[in-house]
Amino acid sequence: MTISVKKVKGTLLLDGNQQAIEKAAALLKAGGLVAFPTETVYGLGAIATNPAAVKKIFMAKGRPADNPLIVHISDLDQLNQVADEPSPEALMLARRFWPGPLSLVLKRSPVVVPEISAGLPTVAVRMPDHPLALSLIRAAGAPIAAPSANLAGRPSPTSYRHVLDDLRGRIDAVIIGQDCRIGVESTVLDLSGEQPVILRPGGLSREELEEALHCHIPVAGSKFSATKPSSPGMKYRHYAPRAPLILITGSPERRFSLLNSLAAFYRRQGLQVGVLKSAAGRGWARTDQPGRLAANLYRLMRIFDAGGADLILIEETVYTGIGLAVMNRLRKAAKRVLRT
Ligand code: TXA
Ligand code: MG
Repeated sequence: MTISVKKVKGTLLLDGNQQAIEKAAALLKAGGLVAFPTETVYGLGAIATNPAAVKKIFMAKGRPADNPLIVHISDLDQLNQVADEPSPEALMLARRFWPGPLSLVLKRSPVVVPEISAGLPTVAVRMPDHPLALSLIRAAGAPIAAPSANLAGRPSPTSYRHVLDDLRGRIDAVIIGQDCRIGVESTVLDLSGEQPVILRPGGLSREELEEALHCHIPVAGSKFSATKPSSPGMKYRHYAPRAPLILITGSPERRFSLLNSLAAFYRRQGLQVGVLKSAAGRGWARTDQPGRLAANLYRLMRIFDAGGADLILIEETVYTGIGLAVMNRLRKAAKRVLRT
């Protein structure tokens, strides 16, 4: 049996072949922590029915214990294990959008250890659209609890290198995959109340969900909605780059020209200015291409941090499709929002 492995400060690097998946599953079954790629971001997994292993996730990330984790499943039978009688609506969405970037908040079954859900009566569940993630869940023979595989307060990892940067020596293994296709986290949809609510915009668009449910879906805590934030994760300060991030909003021409003048002004003062704008930006980081921007957003934040930017100027993008998730993350990270 050949598994190509390397150990970095106690963390195994496993390539994605079947033997490596078996090894990763064995580590999980022994109560270990394994990071793995998904289509959204890398996750940090533990067997969802092992409370001691689940607690280790919070320790490795430095995550507050009252911020619940998402349970990852590989087939619909597992949905019935972790959720208490999923509604027809939940089953319809699961059939239509799984595997995919949608996490459903449902009433939790007793199988789910309370640590995962931070004591809430609900559980967030999703089936990731990634062959390595699905093989790992199957090989482990159990649902896997996994938050994003970053240290709390850092951007979510979209490459295994980001996982190592944050967690080497703190977790048992990382499965090496390609960089994540979507690049922002899953959409978290709460189906446990009277009306569906998006708790976190993400990889699956609000428009697609509205079309499937034939109704308007509010986004919790946003200007689009009258509802209060109800996701525990929302009360925490989210990732913000070290340098102040200034978001520039308004009409496309005016915001583009303001961004250019500000960048020139601060550069003349000798400051290092990181810029994301709608035209003439780096090919993979233009704000007029929301899909590519989403795929590269967290990588760019890590680059700005590592490169020692003094200031970051970003032009607003659209609030539709994947743009809503991007704008949600940027608004949370922004120190100031300038309106032109
Ligand atoms: O794409 C993703 O969702 C990635 C990959 C690894 O699957 N995972 C991820 O997990 O982003 P995490 O832990 O970084 O974010 C989970 C979000 C948090 O905002 C948390 O508060 C919310 O989901 N959440 C989890 N369980 C919940 C529940 N029972 N009720 C309300 N919100 C919940
Ligand atoms: Mg996270």
